[in-house]
Amino acid sequence: MGSTTYEFTQGLDYASIVAASEQVAWTVDDVFRDRRFDASKPIVPASWVRSQALAFLTDQEHLTLNHCRAFSYAHLLGNYEEFIPLHLTGIAQQDWHDDRTHLRALFRFGEEEMKHQQLFRRTETILEQSCGYPFGRYFDDHKARVMELTNAILEYPPLPRFLILLAFEFGTQRHYVESIRDRTEEHGDPLYVDVLKAHWIEETQHIKSDRLEIAQLARSLSPEELSVAFDQMAGIGGLVDTTIVGQVDQEIATLRQVTGRTFTDAQATTLRDALYQSLNAIIAGISLSHPSFTKVALELSREGAAKLGIA
Ligand SMILES: [Fe+2]
Ligand SMILES: [Fe+2]
Repeated sequence: MGSTTYEFTQGLDYASIVAASEQVAWTVDDVFRDRRFDASKPIVPASWVRSQALAFLTDQEHLTLNHCRAFSYAHLLGNYEEFIPLHLTGIAQQDWHDDRTHLRALFRFGEEEMKHQQLFRRTETILEQSCGYPFGRYFDDHKARVMELTNAILEYPPLPRFLILLAFEFGTQRHYVESIRDRTEEHGDPLYVDVLKAHWIEETQHIKSDRLEIAQLARSLSPEELSVAFDQMAGIGGLVDTTIVGQVDQEIATLRQVTGRTFTDAQATTLRDALYQSLNAIIAGISLSHPSFTKVALELSREGAAKLGIA
């Protein structure tokens, strides 16, 4: 405790984070440039949906589910990011006279997340315009559900909040790098790729800030307290899981509405299970299994990491 130097902070400093953030900054208009998504084709990679094994669906239904998944991703990410500016300003308030570059990094981080919410909101709107129908949304327009989720996350201490944030931000790196850029044979919609790329560019700074903040918080905690932080992170994961279940129901409702399709009980169950597995995989699975996240988790607490299945 106190003087621990974590390997996962090596080479990281706030001044470089701020400089990089200033250099790569973009606007939502820069990303969209009056473009639309091509609704005649899949928008996200098939691996994001994994509906092909469901033989009772037609090609058109697979395509509609692909578009639903493109919407769900933007919808969930945009709403998950709502807690981050509040979470970060809480950290900044604890030490207002700290290093100015530290504070600038925190505030730029928070501002970028607010911009990302606009990016995802615009993505939702353009998807609806491009596809010609509304998509079901778990988070209501009156913001009741997002406020409920945000408040529930903020009831947890800062360390587990940073841990889940780090995992999910590593996940967004994979969404662009592995699912889009590196798999040219199933390349997604060019505009959707640009949305993910813009997000990836700025999230690169966030995963650096997260690690510095995590190290600072962890230094004052005992091994037992560090282990408990992983239970708390799993608690936040449970809150997220509820939203994944809810959004899958919305995808099925949208599919029914758009195609007029009815399903037997057995088909509906199979469809719900498959959509839950694939949505959970791209939101939680690839985040928690990201090698850079597992490295941080193991260095903080082997006992805690084991609670997430990381060994
Ligand atoms: Fe973001
Ligand atoms: Fe972020």
